[in-house]
Amino acid sequence: MTASGKYSVLMVCLGNICRSPAAQAVMQRLVDARGLTERFHIDSAGLGGWHVGDLPDKRMRVHARPRGYELNHRARCVQASDFEDFDLIVGMDAGNVDELCDRAATIEQQNKVVMMGDYIRRYPHYDYVPDPYYEGSEGFELVLDLLEDSCECLLDSILQQNNILQ
Ligand code: 4NP
Repeated sequence: MTASGKYSVLMVCLGNICRSPAAQAVMQRLVDARGLTERFHIDSAGLGGWHVGDLPDKRMRVHARPRGYELNHRARCVQASDFEDFDLIVGMDAGNVDELCDRAATIEQQNKVVMMGDYIRRYPHYDYVPDPYYEGSEGFELVLDLLEDSCECLLDSILQQNNILQ
């Protein structure tokens, strides 16, 4: 829990322009819908710096909009202080999680890292959120389907483990 009393979650992918800003928006809406806006801080960041300062990929924004998500996050890189500042750091796939664990300075920081795929319930063929960057439209829809499912499960798990009352 941060000094502000908010539980903070950092969504992480490679570029911070497709999966993690979408995950941030999906989780924020769930938190808001449950009346928990003041109890959470949700952010996202990327492991690579290619798109720092950019809005999310146009294709991701176009696919997110009909579902009611306006993606306006500006891409930023994961930084050392994130491992201190956030309660939970969520990688989208195993590569993200390995890299995050490598960058963590302590075991305590490593223990903050989880994989979004572990929270997928309704899509048993997926245990990670695949990178849509080189895919077609279906890849972006799939990312949103997987995130809408997994974020709900992740939020339930956070609430339960931290005794946060709704
Ligand atoms: P993301 O997708 O990790 O879901 O944001 C990618 C975006 C950009 C690149 C790779 C993945 N890239 O190589 O530039």
